[in-house]
Amino acid sequence: SSIQRFPLTEVQGVPLRKWIAQNWSSIWAFCPHPSDLLISTYPKSGTTWVQEIVDLLRNNGDDEICKRAPTTERSPFLEVHYPPPIPSGLDLLKKVKPPRVIKTHLPIQLVPKGFWENKCKVIYVARNAKDNVISYYHFDRMNLIHPDPGSWEEYLQKFMEGKLAWGSWYDHVKGYWKEKEKRNILYMFFEDMKENPRREILRIMRYLDLSLSDDIIDKIVELTSFKAMKNNPMANYSTIPKIIFDQSISAFMRKGEVGDWTNYFTLAQSQMFDEDYARQMADVNIPFRTSI
Ligand code: PPS
Repeated sequence: SSIQRFPLTEVQGVPLRKWIAQNWSSIWAFCPHPSDLLISTYPKSGTTWVQEIVDLLRNNGDDEICKRAPTTERSPFLEVHYPPPIPSGLDLLKKVKPPRVIKTHLPIQLVPKGFWENKCKVIYVARNAKDNVISYYHFDRMNLIHPDPGSWEEYLQKFMEGKLAWGSWYDHVKGYWKEKEKRNILYMFFEDMKENPRREILRIMRYLDLSLSDDIIDKIVELTSFKAMKNNPMANYSTIPKIIFDQSISAFMRKGEVGDWTNYFTLAQSQMFDEDYARQMADVNIPFRTSI
């Protein structure tokens, strides 16, 4: 196979997979329909979870309809490109009619201008940095097209320096936070979703101007639990070929918890991380929680 681990390539200072960098002009030129919804996240923040919630909300909780295709086809990943013949996100978007649900990991300055010009709705999901880096570490072990993660110690350093794919977590969460009022972005937290999924599903429902019955909301809470999604082949990324995602190394639906970082960070690493965090996040006050 032609798939192998490649170094990242920068686009305007943001490290991305080389196929994304090579196709950057067509990604940047993408123009959505005003009815399209963008779900944006730093990788491993709860993207797939919100994609599933939105699909169920828009289909009145009908799980048969929501099992029509894998997540990657139901709500395509805007910027993703692989070596041919694997279809790109732009290819898959052509096959879906608006109103579409589009996934991106792009930092706000790299989101194609058409999303703002067309006043598209945008849901941003953020996850506390410590759990986010742990989840990303395990993902990069099994995602065979990303650079080798190296040791946990090395990986943590790269995260803090913004050298992982899609760049700095700090810049990412801050970029959307600062623009959220101006651009009518629904800014959500993974930890809130874990604490009270029903409340957060209702927030999404209202943002999308939908109105579903209590029974259907209960059903959606069930269908989007970690366990249900882990066992749903249309939501657990089991359709991605093993030459790209080797889930025998680490499952895409790995743990789905808040606070798993305590199993990996040493006390010294945690203190060092907190000091650096205070410096990198000094200009904002985003209410992240590292436990619930
Ligand atoms: S990706 O590749 O960026 O789209 O990944 P993303 O979906 O953003 O993040 C994957 C992590 O989200 C967890 N997850 C969930 N947690 C709780 N409940 C539900 N329903 C759920 N669905 C996905 C998934 O397990 C990954 O986190 P970790 O901590 O690695 O388990």
